[in-house]
Amino acid sequence: MRIILLGPPGAGKGTQAVRLAEKLAVPHISTGDILRRNVVKKTKLGLQAQPYMATGKLVPDNLVIEMTAKRLKEKDARKGFILDGFPRTLAQANALEDLTEIDVVVNLFLDPEDLVKRSTGRQVCPNCEAVYHVLTNPPRKTNVCDKCGSDLVQREDDKEEVVRTRITTYEDLTEPLCMYYKEKALLRDVYASGHIEEIFERILEALRR
Ligand code: AP5
Repeated sequence: MRIILLGPPGAGKGTQAVRLAEKLAVPHISTGDILRRNVVKKTKLGLQAQPYMATGKLVPDNLVIEMTAKRLKEKDARKGFILDGFPRTLAQANALEDLTEIDVVVNLFLDPEDLVKRSTGRQVCPNCEAVYHVLTNPPRKTNVCDKCGSDLVQREDDKEEVVRTRITTYEDLTEPLCMYYKEKALLRDVYASGHIEEIFERILEALRR
């Protein structure tokens, strides 16, 4: 299946994408993760993207489209994929149409104040990219990754002020994509409040619809 996970920052796209990718045996393609890897490695793309990411703005379309097109051409994506964080603008959605067909778009939605709580409490593993939350999804040992034992960190863009900018950026530039995909009869809305496993079940149900 070729699935897009749409939804504001902190809605749980990454958390659910990991589970869905495992269940459906397709790759999880997160543009945020790919960009962060480039920032860490200080590649040309990473250096161009970093100032936008740090301030909660979108990385320019041309850079993200080229990067995603390259990833979608890799062999593992032929059998399907979970796209997490792309497209985020109408220009990206139009470009994606030229690259591949999409079977379903799952739109995770949540109250803005819950989004802020989720993002500001998030901890990530800089080594294996596992995602935790200090209150709702804590690691077994405080500040240590369950999977690889590395020290957990906070994302630079998870400071409250930047999170609020990211939510506004989402409302201005990405939310219009809900209507875009609704008109194509691809959109499935899923309420993203509740336990992680409960939401996963809602997503599976939405995929069966
Ligand atoms: P990206 O990494 O894609 O960030 P995002 O879309 O803002 O999404 P998040 O990763 O913040 O949240 P999420 O929905 O994945 O939530 P998560 O599962 O982690 O993008 C980062 C930046 O890169 C962008 O701002 C932009 O600059 C750039 N970028 C990326 N793609 C781009 C594009 N296409 N075009 C231009 N620029 C682009 O969960 C959040 C927290 O909540 C975690 O702590 C988790 O443990 C917890 N949690 C999850 N589910 C639950 C639950 N059910 N109950 C309680 N806690 C939960």
